[in-house]
Amino acid sequence: MDRHRKKPEDLRSHRWLGVQDLRSFGHRSRLRQMGYDAEDWGKRPVIGIINTWSDINACHAHLRSRAEDVKRGVLQAGGFPLELPAISLAEPFVKPTTMLYRNFLAMETEELLRSHPIDGAVLLGGCDKTTPGLIMGAISMGLPAIFCPAGPMLRGNWRGKVLGSGSDVWKYWDEKRAGTITEEDWADMENGMARSFGTCMTMGTAATMMGIAEAMGLTLPGASSIPAADAGHPRMCASAGRRIVEMVWDDLTPAKILTPAAFDNAIMVHMAMGGSTNAIIHVIAMARRAGVALSLEQFDQISRKVPVVANIRPSGAYLMEDFFYAGGLPALMKMLGGRLHCHAMTVNGRTVCENIESADVFHPDVIRSLDNAIYAEGATAVLKGNLAPRGAVMKPSAAEPRLRQHRGKAVVFRDYNHMAAEIERDDLDVTPDHVLVLQNAGPKGGPGMPEWGMLPIPRKLVKAGVRDMLRISDARMSGTSYGACILHVAPESFVGGPLAFVETGDEIEVDVARRLLHLHVSDEELARRRANWVAPQPRYERGYGRMFQEHIGQADDGCDFDFLEHGAPVPEPEIH
Ligand code: FES
Repeated sequence: MDRHRKKPEDLRSHRWLGVQDLRSFGHRSRLRQMGYDAEDWGKRPVIGIINTWSDINACHAHLRSRAEDVKRGVLQAGGFPLELPAISLAEPFVKPTTMLYRNFLAMETEELLRSHPIDGAVLLGGCDKTTPGLIMGAISMGLPAIFCPAGPMLRGNWRGKVLGSGSDVWKYWDEKRAGTITEEDWADMENGMARSFGTCMTMGTAATMMGIAEAMGLTLPGASSIPAADAGHPRMCASAGRRIVEMVWDDLTPAKILTPAAFDNAIMVHMAMGGSTNAIIHVIAMARRAGVALSLEQFDQISRKVPVVANIRPSGAYLMEDFFYAGGLPALMKMLGGRLHCHAMTVNGRTVCENIESADVFHPDVIRSLDNAIYAEGATAVLKGNLAPRGAVMKPSAAEPRLRQHRGKAVVFRDYNHMAAEIERDDLDVTPDHVLVLQNAGPKGGPGMPEWGMLPIPRKLVKAGVRDMLRISDARMSGTSYGACILHVAPESFVGGPLAFVETGDEIEVDVARRLLHLHVSDEELARRRANWVAPQPRYERGYGRMFQEHIGQADDGCDFDFLEHGAPVPEPEIH
């Protein structure tokens, strides 16, 4: 027997269930109340299945039954599965934004695992913030954990046209505003936009984060690309259930997987996928939980070396279903070849490169080769300058090339409501060369940094055929969005970052090649505006929102709560 393998009395759950005292009598008698007996717990690892299923989350509609597949696998391998529900964070429904609650889910995951007799965890999620939220909590708790991605939904379809989540909604909304499609067309499209359960099937935040989880080594190989409706998906879940039991005996914890090499691999894969800008915030937050220091500059450096090879919307042409048929993430990772840190460990006990050894590309237009990339380098650019001293991000691959080097006059909106009121006005003084600026949409200002960063093109310009303009904000944008949008400006305007002092008519210069974001206003004038600036009132006086605004970090720090970042040890509960 491997001397490193745990024995039953080493299990964390043994403290609840394996000893003979007054409290453990209570624990066991209550398990018996639910119909279990000593055959169910005894010498078996207890596996917590953290499930983000809910009636209002269409992306997770199948996770109720997938939890049963995980349980089947756990039982097959000799474990004791217990399902623990967590906040669902349905992206299309939660207001003001799910990002307000990512850290809530992280806290909930950590506390569910800590407070119950759990030895290992299977995490069920995928809709945008659920992947980082679940993983952040699991990292902090430090128990062996596998992430089971919800998987993308099937391709959309409307009158024979393939529709992609988000990306085609924005596109056809502009066509409707321009009068090139009818109200009937638009209404009809609702039927075909989302045809099955599962996450958005463009390379939005969900697909990006599920792919990143796999690249970090936290899913079984290939798991992140399996469409939610594919029969391989429940098989993957059962397999994760079997594997987590072994991980508990082997004590394969996140700390042994999430090394700096794992995060480097994640960033390389992010760039090769042409992934969502949101992932930058989440990867920094996950890395800090794991005690790995990551800066925005590392994303920029890696981005300059890794081309976009996944030809998936919004940067490319295809959808995640095509990506799966083309070989999925293992094939994309194999395409990166020697650039990956091969030795990085993964949840199946094998290294990254062992896992991708037999991967193949079956459709070379969907997963391109490095010398036939859809964007040669710099899928995500980190810009700096006097307008964003701590950085801002942009996805040049999804912007019109003319806007990658641009100088224009600002049109400033002081908040979302101001922008919404102005943008449809036919007398708005704006041309395609203006730069749209949105203030007070950051972590504290939004609050929660809503996905408002793809500001609508003013209606009069849409009607004239304009489809892209330079836009700058401290907000985020959906990974399914596109356009010349400069996002995550840090520090944000709500706390007195320079974005707060931009006025309509100021000149702003952007040069992606030089990574420059410059406000052409003198230091003296900026100092004058700063001295006259009145800080806005906090958004919340009570509850979770108040805790959020008092502890949330800026975008370049990953927007975690200051008291949850790596550092303080996670205490085990007293059992009495
Ligand atoms: Fe859930 Fe897009 S709405 S992944």
